[in-house]
Amino acid sequence: MKKMLMCGALLLCCCTAGYVGFATAADKGPAEMTLQATVDPASTPKPAQFPHAAHQGRLECGTCHHGKGADGKQVAYTEGQKIEKCETCHNSKAGMPEKVNTFKNAAHALCKECHTKNKPELAKCTVCHKK
Ligand code: HEC
Ligand code: HEC
Ligand code: HEC
Ligand code: HEC
Repeated sequence: MKKMLMCGALLLCCCTAGYVGFATAADKGPAEMTLQATVDPASTPKPAQFPHAAHQGRLECGTCHHGKGADGKQVAYTEGQKIEKCETCHNSKAGMPEKVNTFKNAAHALCKECHTKNKPELAKCTVCHKK
């Protein structure tokens, strides 16, 4: 019985340590993501593929991530800031300007606009919304 308890405690320690390690490594977020609006979803959901790590290799975090000040204005990204989901701020209930008032609109304003500037082919729907 005592032995089992010891094992349990050890396992707990290992898991906690493992988790801390994981949390640090996870500060960059997932390498690959499937993005899907949940507050303002389309009637036919249209998930978007997002190779996060590939973009991190080319772009500064602050190109895409930012915060919100007490005055409701955008605050530029600072290293180590808390990164929240886009939808936390960009949803139809938050009173944002129409261009960015849903996840879809904010995502298109960021992702699609840069893709269009780089190469028109990159702005095709199926680049992000795989069939
Ligand atoms: C550069 C990437 C990108 C391109 C190109 C793009 N989208 Fe999106 N789109 C997104 C992201 C990211 C979202 C937000 C996440 C989600 O809900 O899919 C989104 C959301 C949507 C949604 C809402 C989906 C939902 O489930 O609520 C629709 C509809 C949509 N896009 C249509 C289109 C159409 C039509 C085109 C082509 C004219 C297009 N998109 C091109 C990235 C893109
Ligand atoms: C091209 C745009 C882009 C760049 C560049 C970028 N990210 Fe992201 N990141 C995103 C998007 C989009 C999400 C998904 C947000 C969501 O789910 O609403 C995300 C999610 C995350 C998450 C997870 C947040 C959560 O709660 O799910 C972390 C952490 C993160 N990014 C960190 C970083 C760091 C650190 C950098 C720079 C090294 C970086 N990102 C660069 C677009 C970007
Ligand atoms: C903590 C809240 C918050 C989060 C999280 C957030 N934003 Fe924003 N975002 C804002 C605010 C505030 C503005 C300024 C809106 C205005 O013009 O009044 C803004 C503006 C924008 C703009 C317009 C930028 C411009 O220069 O016109 C885009 C595009 C955008 N956000 C996309 C995103 C995307 C994509 C994500 C997720 C990776 C995200 N935002 C996460 C609060 C947030
Ligand atoms: C500031 C510019 C920029 C932003 C913002 C950006 N991208 Fe990209 N993205 C690119 C470029 C450039 C490429 C092509 C890279 C290459 O060809 O190697 C790319 C490639 C991709 C690809 C792979 C295309 C393929 O077939 O290889 C996907 C999917 C993608 N982006 C989705 C997104 C989504 C979703 C977002 C928003 C959450 C986003 N991107 C935001 C510049 C951007």
